[in-house]
Amino acid sequence: MKDQTIIVTGGGSGLGKAICLGLAAEGAKVAILDIDPAAAGAVVAEIEASGGKAFSVIGDITTRDSAAGLVGAVIEKSGRVHGLCNCAGVYPRKPILEISDADWDFSFSVNVRGLYTSRSRPSPTCRPTVAGGSSTSPRSTPSRPIRRTPTMRR
Ligand SMILES: NC(=O)c1ccc[n+]([C@@H]2O[C@H](COP(=O)([O-])OP(=O)(O)OC[C@H]3O[C@@H](n4cnc5c(N)ncnc54)[C@H](O)[C@@H]3O)[C@@H](O)[C@H]2O)c1
Repeated sequence: MKDQTIIVTGGGSGLGKAICLGLAAEGAKVAILDIDPAAAGAVVAEIEASGGKAFSVIGDITTRDSAAGLVGAVIEKSGRVHGLCNCAGVYPRKPILEISDADWDFSFSVNVRGLYTSRSRPSPTCRPTVAGGSSTSPRSTPSRPIRRTPTMRR
């Protein structure tokens, strides 16, 4: 991990924050890509205070263009990206009968489309810098298998 630049989307809180702290402790330079500037800044400060390397790029990962701009900004700053860890996510809790179409679209835009947008190559010039790295999405939402319930079986 030493001096490898690893992007962590959603690194400002929760799973992403824990992963940022762990990566920095292993010597990585952590690029925190988050929509919340205060949260991302606090994680950068915490990493720097313990002698690690981190910086934040603030924005929204839900569209191709915005995600491309964010990844492009990391590449501009760091020269190369060695890995991507997708942690940005939302979990709006509502009783099922109150969930609107807009709620579904919002959740899918972050939890599902966001995985794709942040992995998609921002521009032809960025291809060589991203290729060869690895990416992971340590979240259950997009990959959780659908379990059949007794009602579904009937
Ligand atoms: N925490 C858990 O134990 C757990 C377990 C299983 C699944 N999950 C899922 O993992 C995801 C993250 O959970 P968490 O507990 O770390 O949540 P969290 O709210 O603590 O952190 C999510 C981070 O993503 C950022 N974010 C949200 N939308 C964004 C966007 N559009 N662009 C950029 N950044 C954005 C937030 O600002 C925040 O910093 C959620 O979808 C959650 O349902 C969490």
